[in-house]
Amino acid sequence: MHYEVVLPAAGSGKRMGAGQNKLFLELLDKPILIHTLEVFQQDPFCTGIWLAVKPEERVYIQGLLEQFGITKVKGLPAGGAERQHSVHSCMKEMQQVDIVLVHDAARPFITHDIIANLVQSAHQNGAAIAGVRAKDTMKKVRNGIIEETVDRDSLWMIQTPQAFQYDLIVEAEDVAEKVGFLGTDEAMLVERLGHTVHIVESSYENVKMTTQEDLLFGEAILRKRA
Ligand code: C5P
Repeated sequence: MHYEVVLPAAGSGKRMGAGQNKLFLELLDKPILIHTLEVFQQDPFCTGIWLAVKPEERVYIQGLLEQFGITKVKGLPAGGAERQHSVHSCMKEMQQVDIVLVHDAARPFITHDIIANLVQSAHQNGAAIAGVRAKDTMKKVRNGIIEETVDRDSLWMIQTPQAFQYDLIVEAEDVAEKVGFLGTDEAMLVERLGHTVHIVESSYENVKMTTQEDLLFGEAILRKRA
């Protein structure tokens, strides 16, 4: 089953404290952004990549695409103030496809197997998102005091990719834009429509490069896979 992927790459990465877009930081031999793009470049089921970028970084990114032989990028629309806006600007340019995958450019360790499971589930069910089971004891805390210990068996930590049938994600984004709803992931927009979202078990290695410690973890994953 074929799909196109939206990669928001227009963040500032303040929590990384790198003084530049964290996606340009190198993990071993290549920028984080390139590691992520290569996963989709090498996946025969991926027929197109949409990359949301900061306008002032577009030329630099185009140079990277050329340098590393990334040929599947169909557009580099301008990102927005929030991640959801960046995803939306890609969706506005994308033509009708079967399945749309939304994936953080800052998660370079996603595997073809997990992508295939997500695409399959979205094809059958409309919407499917990657997640892993919570490992730690989970408690709800208010003002430094434990309010409640939450049943861990029902808790999942949600990642990207998130996969959707095209018409469903287009409708969800349009409604969210109309009413000014801002979610922390695309699934929230679909949930608001009352549509079921399925979970696909992912990997703890599919970590988002957010803070400096993540870079150490990321390099360890790359060395293990080499
Ligand atoms: O900041 P964080 O890592 O959670 O952002 C997730 C992804 O969304 C990153 O790949 C980042 O570049 C992207 N993003 C974006 N536009 C924004 C904020 C974040 O494309 N306004």
